Amino acid sequence: MRKVPLAESLRIIGRGSVNWLRERPLVVSFEVTDSCTCYCKHCDHGGPKDDSHNLKPADYQRYTEALSPCVVQISGGEPLMRDDVAEIVRSIKYKGGIPYTILVSNWSRMTAERYLELRRAGVHQFSVSLDFPDRRHDDFRVHPGLYDHLSDVVPRCAGYGHDDIVLNSCITSENVGEIQAMADKAQEWGVNICYSAYSSRRTGCRDYFPSSAGQLGELARGLESVEARRNGTGWIVNSSTTLDATRRYFENGGTPGCKAGLRFLVVTADGYLQPCSMQFRRYPLEERGRMIEEFSRGNTCDQCYVSIRSYLDKTFPRLLWENVSGFFSFQRG
Ligand SMILES: C[S@@+](CC[C@H](N)C(=O)[O-])C[C@H]1O[C@@H](n2cnc3c(N)ncnc32)[C@H](O)[C@@H]1O
Ligand code: SF4
Ligand code: SF4
Repeated sequence: MRKVPLAESLRIIGRGSVNWLRERPLVVSFEVTDSCTCYCKHCDHGGPKDDSHNLKPADYQRYTEALSPCVVQISGGEPLMRDDVAEIVRSIKYKGGIPYTILVSNWSRMTAERYLELRRAGVHQFSVSLDFPDRRHDDFRVHPGLYDHLSDVVPRCAGYGHDDIVLNSCITSENVGEIQAMADKAQEWGVNICYSAYSSRRTGCRDYFPSSAGQLGELARGLESVEARRNGTGWIVNSSTTLDATRRYFENGGTPGCKAGLRFLVVTADGYLQPCSMQFRRYPLEERGRMIEEFSRGNTCDQCYVSIRSYLDKTFPRLLWENVSGFFSFQRG
């Protein structure tokens, strides 16, 4: 995984340290549309939605200035459904490369030209959702032809050599036996891999939560074998502590200690703040303090271990160390 060059790394880490001390969010996830090209079995988005109240690209500057995150996710729904997504990226950037910007997408609408345009606009990391290493992905996402499209466009974009593409595989009961095969696919396509964990909170459906002894055994074996494949290049993007915490999340049926609203938050497509993508209390931008008091301080929800949490439920020294060793750099790049 490509590391951010030194000067930019220092700016991002500096911003993160100040935010940590001042109880400002480190990560902000902008859900830039609620509409989607897929109807995934594990998700509550899916299909077209009313996009008439979406923020415009220029509005995003006001949010990054007010929240001043060091990391931003651009997500949805499906962010590539917006033709102006590169303009949104430009609008959230300050001078000097910050915030670190991750585009979280299913890539159904990605092309090589769009990938290059989004890189120029300032995307540091492209997170591509992949649930199966073959055409079962199309069935799970209810999008015929998606896997074949990814098999073409992902290696093609990886071929530019920027090393900024990460397959994002959400572990469910359906694909828990594919953990190794997903890593094989990442290697075959010349990209990195990151695992995340299913939460039943989105849809209320427990069926996709690995919970039987057999499934938990497969999970432990899969994660252990992935762990053994680390080679110092950072191609397995999750830290060891995060993979271990993911296993415990499934074994225990939850993970307490969530900092939603405090260390991270979501900005909805129409511009409200939410503590996370699965808690639907909405607050105007100016009322983040009220969200923290009303929600974050008393939050006992333990119902997910999605990546935004797994980055941030750590002590500051560990967080800093994992990010410095994983994404940021103390060498000129
Ligand atoms: C909500 S989607 C939005 C961006 C884009 N549409 C995509 O699929 O990448 C972001 C990520 O959330 C994951 N996701 C969806 N439903 C989930 C659930 N119930 N639990 C955990 N992750 C989930 C998806 O697999 C995807 O990687
Ligand atoms: S996971 Fe992503 S692609 Fe699938 S329905 Fe949800 S938002 Fe759409
Ligand atoms: S554990 Fe935290 S991030 Fe996850 S659903 Fe609950 S409040 Fe949201």
